[in-house]
Order: sequence, then structure tokens, then C-alpha cells
Amino acid sequence: MIDFDDLAVRARRYQASLDTRLVRPADAALAALQRLDQPLPQAPSNPAAILAELDEIGSPATMAATGGRYFGFVTGGVLPAALGADWLAAAWGQNAAMDVMSPIAARLEEIALRWIGEALHLPATGGALVTGATMANFTGLAAARETLLARQGWNVSSQGLFGAPPIPVVVGGEVHASMRKALSLLGLGKDRVIQVPVDGQGRMRPGAFPTLTEPAIVCLQAGNVNTGAFDPALELIPLAKSSGSWVHVDGAFGLWAAAAPARAHLMAGYDQADSWTTDAHKWLNAGYDCGIALLRDAAPLRDALDVPAAYLSHGAQRQPMHYTPESSRRARGVPVWAALKSLGKQGLADLVERCCRHAAHFAEGLTQGGFEVLNDVVLNDVVLNQVMVSFGTTEQTTAVIAAIQREGTCWCGSTQWQGRTAMRISVSSWATTSEDVTRSLEAILRVAHQTLEQGAPPS
Ligand SMILES: Cc1ncc(COP(=O)(O)O)c(C=O)c1O
Repeated sequence: MIDFDDLAVRARRYQASLDTRLVRPADAALAALQRLDQPLPQAPSNPAAILAELDEIGSPATMAATGGRYFGFVTGGVLPAALGADWLAAAWGQNAAMDVMSPIAARLEEIALRWIGEALHLPATGGALVTGATMANFTGLAAARETLLARQGWNVSSQGLFGAPPIPVVVGGEVHASMRKALSLLGLGKDRVIQVPVDGQGRMRPGAFPTLTEPAIVCLQAGNVNTGAFDPALELIPLAKSSGSWVHVDGAFGLWAAAAPARAHLMAGYDQADSWTTDAHKWLNAGYDCGIALLRDAAPLRDALDVPAAYLSHGAQRQPMHYTPESSRRARGVPVWAALKSLGKQGLADLVERCCRHAAHFAEGLTQGGFEVLNDVVLNDVVLNQVMVSFGTTEQTTAVIAAIQREGTCWCGSTQWQGRTAMRISVSSWATTSEDVTRSLEAILRVAHQTLEQGAPPS
């Protein structure tokens, strides 16, 4: 039996350390990882000893991603209610494949999907909880492929793609790499796409949108991973719809803008799409892993992903596995439901708006510090929660990013933006406070000036 009290002490100690430890793991912690590199034991081990070893070696070797000063990639923290719910769900050990295997998991998944559609003001009738946005894109695109080919009398689920009528696919020039991966998994080809030129913030240019003469899959992006910019859906979706195309939206983090009145304008027109992707492990802060696919019409999703075995059909109740790429799966709906319930609509709006304000604070401080912010700053505000900054040449920026990561007050990653190297700050955690931003900004500016003074190589 596990000593849950001991486990709680360890978890509490870890959470309490987040404020004082380096955001990156210390060198000694990384070196200690080699202690885990043992042969598979012959004999059983005591669970308490295993957990003690895991805590001793594992906890220091984490990235402090659930703290307030981790700004890498687009990584949310974990809201307390979501963390607790996930613990309970792990103790329950449920398989969320079917209602009969876990009534609570099946029910909470359905409720969570409905609540997300409502919070984001999207006319979704169903969807799926999957591992992340990559698989949510896969899921939405699978429904798109099923629908467009069925309209031409081709059942892709049973006949496959060999000999099928070709489906054109339209993406923006700054489409996220995971969308290409999803397209390739579906046999649609990651490079077999019509790529629409974009502006300096990565938005598709409506004037450059192709004239479509047949139904296509048109992939829009709500929130560019570097700039936070949104494709102009109000102009693009009517263009796509005039050819009977299916519009899929990758809004891995940007879709949450719809929940905050001050940012909802960014989502104007997106409710006219057919399928939407977002992540619960990004801005909702529901913990890893959970992507969300929402569908205007969930029927083609079932046609595409149904698992046709007699023993897997059980009454009229929604069976999650018939709407997802997986069969057996963890109970993702539990932490998502808890996260949404703990925030409410007001808390969700505050979370989104607060992160955007923090991002604007970063942009302002960096500009005042003499550095160039590469994404749009209008009236001291950035589009969303992403900030990109250059510290000079590629070599200078690379050297400064490495020094900031090493110094450890905060953690930010590097990126390439339209030919330039930049540092990217993504403010996505509920745990980030104004003090975290001030402290991080001070460290970034100090380290940047020191690094440049020491003579990082010019171009
Ligand atoms: C726009 C966009 N799409 C897709 C993804 C992939 O998300 P995931 O890692 O959850 O699959 C990301 C990740 O940052 C993203 O920003």
C-alpha cells in the first residue's frame, strides 16, 4: 500500500520549492539521473522506496514548468483543482474508453466538451479529448476527409485513399508543424498543400487566397505560436465556404481568446468553421496531457473513428472511444472538468486577460531596455500572450538566450521568425504573477546587457 501522506508531503515540498529553485534543473540534478540507469531488477522493490528514489532523483531533474516563471514553448501550469482531480483519477485507475468501463470518466468528458464549446462560444455538437493539439488536428482533419470524400461517393474508412478523388488542402505559410504531421498521418501529405502567403505577423493574406474550384480542406490558425496573430477568419471562411470546403481551425492556445471579452474580437468569424482544435494543457492549465477537438457536426467523427466490434457497442450513451483515434485512454475529462469548474467563465476570462497583460508588460520592459520586440505592439499591448524579442544578431541573440536559460530565474526558448533568430516568451500559466514578470524581466535585461557587454560575437 502506498503511504499517501508521505506522497503528499513530497508533492507539497516540490511545489513549495518552485519559488526559490532555478527554473532549469541544476547541473548536479542532471548528473544524478545516471543513478537511475540500472539493470531491470530481478526481485520486486518496495513502493515506498521507489517513490523516495523517484522524488530524490526525479524532482530536482524537472523543469519547473508549473511555477510562475516558465515561459518556454506554450506550456500551461496545473490549476490546484486539476492537479487534485488528476490524483483522484489516478487512484481510480479508470479506462475512459467506454461508459461501461467508467461511467464517471465518460460523463465528465461529455460535460467538459460541452462546457468548452460554451466557454469558447463555438457551435460544437461534439468532439473528443485526445493527447494534444497534434492529435486534435488529426481528429478534426479525419472528420473533414471522411465528409469531403463521402460527398463524392467514396468511403475512405473502408476503401482507403488509394484511388480516392484527391482533396486539395490549403494552409497558411506559417502553419504549425504539427498540422503538417497530422496531414501526413492522414495520407493527405505534409507537403502536398497549397500554401497561402502571410504577412509579417504570420496571418494569411486574404488577397492571396487561392480560387478554389472544388471542395478543399482549409486550415486556419487562431494564434500563431510565435506572434499570437490570428488568420482573418471573417474574410477567409466565406472564401473557403464558397467552394463547399471544410474549414478546420488550429487554435492550440489562441482559441481561449474567445473566453476573454477583451480578446474575443480576435476570434471573430471563427464560429463559422467546421472543426476546431485547442489544448487543455496549454492555457486552460489542466495539466498534461489533453488536446481537444470540437466538431460542428460530430457524426462524421464517429464515421471516421468508430471501432466496429459487437462487444464495444453499448446502448445510446456516447462511448468516447468511438470519437477518438485511441481505444483505451486515461480519464482526461476529470482534470479538465475540475479546471473549468474551479475557474468558471469569469476565472477563465481573468486567466486569459492576466496572461496577456503580463506579456504586454514583458514587451514594454524589453523595448524600454533597448531591445527589439518582433511581434506587433499597439498602444503598449501585444496581440495575445506571446512575445518575441531579438537581442541583435543571430549570434548575439543565441548567446543571450543561452545565458538567460543558464542563469535560471526564468526559462524562455528560442525561435526563428521570418529569417530572424529571436527569444520567445509565452505567458500561459495561471501561476505567473506580476512579481514573477518583474523578477524575470530584471533577470533577462541584466543577463542580456552583461552578455552583450562581454562581447557576444557580432554578425
Ligand atoms: C498553433 C499550435 N498548433 C499545434 C501545437 C501542438 O500542440 P501539442 O504539443 O499539444 O500537440 C502547438 C504547440 O505549441 C501550437 O502552438
